[in-house]
Amino acid sequence: MKTLITGGTVVNSTGRGLADVLIEGEKIAAVLPPGSQLLGADLKSAVDKVIDATGKYVIPGGIDAHTHMEMPFGGSSASDTFETGTTAAAWGGTTSIVDFVVQYPHQNILDQYHLWHEKAAGNSVIDYGFHQILSDVQDSSLTAMDELISEGVTSFKLFTAYKDVFLSDDGQIFRAFQKGAENGALMMMHAENGSVIDVLQKQAIEAGHTTPYYHGTTRPWQTEEEAVHRVIMLADLARVPLYIVHVSAKQAVEQIATARDRGQNVFGEACPQYLYLSLEEHLAAVSEQWGDFEGAKWVCSTPVRSREEGHQEAMWQGLRTNDLQLVATDHCPFCMTDQKELGIGDFTKIPNGIGSVEHRMDLIYQGVVDGKITLERWVETCSVTPARMFGMYGQKGVIQPGADGDVVIYDPNGHTSIGLNKTHHMNMDYSAWEGYEIAGHVDTVISRGSIIVDNNTFLGSTSHGKYIKRGLSQYLI
Ligand code: URP
Ligand code: ZN
Ligand code: ZN
Ligand code: ZN
Repeated sequence: MKTLITGGTVVNSTGRGLADVLIEGEKIAAVLPPGSQLLGADLKSAVDKVIDATGKYVIPGGIDAHTHMEMPFGGSSASDTFETGTTAAAWGGTTSIVDFVVQYPHQNILDQYHLWHEKAAGNSVIDYGFHQILSDVQDSSLTAMDELISEGVTSFKLFTAYKDVFLSDDGQIFRAFQKGAENGALMMMHAENGSVIDVLQKQAIEAGHTTPYYHGTTRPWQTEEEAVHRVIMLADLARVPLYIVHVSAKQAVEQIATARDRGQNVFGEACPQYLYLSLEEHLAAVSEQWGDFEGAKWVCSTPVRSREEGHQEAMWQGLRTNDLQLVATDHCPFCMTDQKELGIGDFTKIPNGIGSVEHRMDLIYQGVVDGKITLERWVETCSVTPARMFGMYGQKGVIQPGADGDVVIYDPNGHTSIGLNKTHHMNMDYSAWEGYEIAGHVDTVISRGSIIVDNNTFLGSTSHGKYIKRGLSQYLI
């Protein structure tokens, strides 16, 4: 199959320009001056399909480097399967995800890794890689890290929160960091002071403060700043590169910026929820259907934060200044009915997570429209840098000969009404983004040369998505 995309503006992280893109089989074969000839003949006559992208952006497919498909968590399981989650991702212009293999205490890491392959294989519409979560760090965990690196799992996430679930103590974290320094891994941290949060949550429930709003107030920014600072120090000591997931506090961005200014390899992940949503408007929301439980729709950790304190603007600024390097969703959807509902009367029992995998490209593109970031920065934070950060660049994250034919045609004159009347494709009974209007539209999505979304028609198949065997991070300072 040969596909020619003509007349579009090809955008990458360093610039934009009119070019035609030729895809042959699964790979990009050429990026050519518009209207190029082949042996004197019009190139259009030599291909199977021509897509006219005049007036549109042609960008490398989106890469969402933080998803949780089918994740068992908080007494429930994230509601998207690999099939529904990757289908939703495709609709939104994302052609690769990196999902987290979960290890709970006493589970065998390599068994879990194989289990994740079983979940994903034959069920994914787009390509997928894996990070590995480490909970209890045993000697066997450290040897498993070496094994996983050779399997293409080159990044590992640990937690300073969720006691008895994911939390590792500082010594365990440090041992994992030392191993990462030895084998070239990128260490990822969920950084919140879980012990302090546990005390604040207990006190809130005892005081009768049981609604979702208190999910936010019991995870104050100090608990994030403290933990971010702590893990930055541990990473410095171990001399290992560190990636802070789901940054939400402006003080956490400052800690990351300070470490980077010292020359340390520290990176921060922005997520749409922390750029747009807030304690006041979302966790405190009240509705006819759910009353003051409405805010459960936006319970995730770290929490969406106070707009009065200015966290959202600090996140956008961090994205602009490269103190935050990329945007991922932390896609971890739960339905209100039967799932989030578990926390009626006790917010600590609400499964934590928001679903956004379908909307990331649109939501961040709206930042371009709103003048918060440039067009090139959109492509950089949503595709190019995720590829570099997680060792896929060249294969993914770029439109150049030899790269996978992962291409999105984005229409800046189109329009997207998000989530309206449950028009999303994520397996959720509500949308965390209902009412968001985007001045742009994902028109065509191509994954390894196959058109999987064609102007509002889905053409993908679960037999298409392949495992991405990643290399070491290509993003170190
Ligand atoms: O609330 C969240 N973020 N749920 C997913 C698990 C995690 O910590 O990333
Ligand atoms: Zn986390
Ligand atoms: Zn997560
Ligand atoms: Zn359109």
